[in-house]
Amino acid sequence: MKIVTIVGARPQFIKAAAVSRLIRKDFQEILVHTGQHYDANMSDIFFDELKIPKPDINLGVGSGTHARQTAEMMVRIEDVLLKESPDYLLVYGDTNSTLAGAIAASKLCIPIVHVEAGLRSYNMQMPEEQNRILTDRISTLCLCPTKEAVKNLEKEGRVKGVYDTGDVMCDAVLFYSQMLEENKAAYYFEKLQGSCGQVKPLPRWYIATIHRAENTDTLRKVEEILAALEMLDEPVLFPVHPRTKKLVDTLNMKYGYKNIIFTEPMGYLEMLYFVKHAKKTITDSGGLQKETYILETPCVTVRDQTEWIETLKGNCNILAKPERLDLADKVLNTKSDWSKKEDYYGQGKAAYEICRLIQGEK
Ligand code: UD1
Repeated sequence: MKIVTIVGARPQFIKAAAVSRLIRKDFQEILVHTGQHYDANMSDIFFDELKIPKPDINLGVGSGTHARQTAEMMVRIEDVLLKESPDYLLVYGDTNSTLAGAIAASKLCIPIVHVEAGLRSYNMQMPEEQNRILTDRISTLCLCPTKEAVKNLEKEGRVKGVYDTGDVMCDAVLFYSQMLEENKAAYYFEKLQGSCGQVKPLPRWYIATIHRAENTDTLRKVEEILAALEMLDEPVLFPVHPRTKKLVDTLNMKYGYKNIIFTEPMGYLEMLYFVKHAKKTITDSGGLQKETYILETPCVTVRDQTEWIETLKGNCNILAKPERLDLADKVLNTKSDWSKKEDYYGQGKAAYEICRLIQGEK
């Protein structure tokens, strides 16, 4: 059986790593990279470091407006699907690459497997919410990471082909965190390149990432978020996503932040290390909210809502506004109760379940 898998953005390389390792035992997989993320430290580093099979095809689409980027991907994915005529198309998550793959396959009547199906923020302003709803609607198999995601689909009247597999991100965290070199802080700091060169080892730190369109499309929100980080009681490591870079550089020129260490985007293992040992994580990323939860690092999420509502129990994760006082207050004054922690995301067997369900469809 032949499967075409579409990836394009950083978190999808990590999810595909967990599944490809297993899927290739039983299926012929053709891994297609749309080229949505193209900078070396947003793309190549993950294939090298995580020992993921390199993409068989890179469509080289790159950046653009939503319509232009998605349309260009659809055209190029359609060519691949016509040539390969796979039994299935496999897509992950909620990016423009996900939607483009799903639409191209759907029109060719190729069954779609959507991994990370059923998540909802109920905020239709988010491109991710639009992408995930549309992709779920045309997928044959909706493979959900949590029970909550299954319920969301049920509310929309979707039951057939819906399964709770556990979360592939959890597989990845459990698998790769075994590879971390513990008590080697100096080693990980040595790998960090900051905007002022090499980063000196720190005894304690926070780690922050901000890249969502809703937070980075205006200077004011980024300014407020950075002002909050500047008020914290320990230094903040801040790997800068290319989307945020221009704004961050402008603000850093103006304010010369003293408590924030801006770095290049990190590889996955470095990120796991710095998150695992951080005092807290401050983020607007979906993936990081779960990674911090699994690694038991408290998280403050700079958003009005989250798809990962399980993490909010016991304040293991707490939502904050992109406003300096609210954000600094939540980071400094929230206590997390880890006794409420449960295995909401599975036990690292999601990839196995995904392969089993695809086999069962045959
Ligand atoms: C995308 C996903 C988002 C996901 C994130 C993970 C969509 C709609 N959004 O957001 O859900 O959380 O990936 O990182 O698909 N850029 C570069 N180099 C790169 C990649 C991007 O310079 O390698 C710049 C470009 O100027 C681009 C901007 O970053 O316009 C945004 O990139 P894009 O891929 O459109 O969305 P992300 O913000 O990365």
